[in-house]
Amino acid sequence: MPSSPSPALPCVRVLATGGTIAGAQTGGSRGYQAGAFSIDALVAAVPQLATLAQLEVEQVAAIGSQDMDEAVWRRLAERTAAALADPAVHGVVITHGTDTMEETGYFLNLVVRSEKPVVLVGAMRPATEISADGPMNLYNAVAVAAHPAARARGVLIVANDEIHFAREVAKTNTTQLGTFKSTQRGLAGLVNAGRLHLYAPPARRHTAESEFILGPDTVLPRVSIVYAYAGMGRELIDAAVQSGAHGLVVAGVGDGNLPATALAACADAVRRGVAVVRSSRTGGGVVERDIEIDDDRLGLIVAEELNPQKARVLLMLGLTRTADPRALQEMFFSY
Ligand code: SIN
Repeated sequence: MPSSPSPALPCVRVLATGGTIAGAQTGGSRGYQAGAFSIDALVAAVPQLATLAQLEVEQVAAIGSQDMDEAVWRRLAERTAAALADPAVHGVVITHGTDTMEETGYFLNLVVRSEKPVVLVGAMRPATEISADGPMNLYNAVAVAAHPAARARGVLIVANDEIHFAREVAKTNTTQLGTFKSTQRGLAGLVNAGRLHLYAPPARRHTAESEFILGPDTVLPRVSIVYAYAGMGRELIDAAVQSGAHGLVVAGVGDGNLPATALAACADAVRRGVAVVRSSRTGGGVVERDIEIDDDRLGLIVAEELNPQKARVLLMLGLTRTADPRALQEMFFSY
């Protein structure tokens, strides 16, 4: 019989959004439906959670994270803030699909104003798969969210016994359990069956120190991502501007580079008041200013270490504060 949690245990609120961690296979096939199981069912499948924390659960959405959008981000930010404002709540766990978890995590890292732990967790195998990874990932995520040492580290992502900073982590593999990598600045720590080993805290501003405010009237501007390639022309950049983008992130080749024609389109976009950020499609390294491209002259912004999808998140929030490329660049150096 599952044990009841002791009232002396920390309280962790679990906000569920769906994903493969809640996925169910259909008819014996390998295919599955993400978000099929409720959070009540996921928690009931791991009775050992009762030894870690008193859990309060809330189903915020039941989607595959390819369908994650601004409306769900806003709801998650609001429900996370409400949970953390409750003095009885020690931390929040968010169950989420792995595909866009890094974007949601970084978004919350910038808009949640609290030092309490916020931990996103998912799984690569659906809950009905042989050796599903969801139950241990959920157990570890609750252990991290309940632990006082996990405070003031920004939003974290737990998977495969590793703890990642939302700013640093990227999904790097379509199917493997070890898909999440923090190649640039390294891991936030390890968690072995609920036992935490935390490393150095994050260097960049986050959560309680963030300047970004997501109020009900805050309009998140449209920011598009354009992927660069050999022989790229200007048509995708022009199309993004014509469709009303206020910001543009280029997943550039190498050090955020672009063919000359595409670069000219970026310069035109800047002249029309669009903020243009150079990131890289390589998956690693730092995009620096003024190396092969004269960013100062063209009014471009560099993403430093942020991959294109996270640069988009920061640019959306940055544009709620300023349209000045120099001020936006400072944000990319700070967050
Ligand atoms: C999703 O992101 O919802 C599907 C993939 C996964 O959760 O691993």
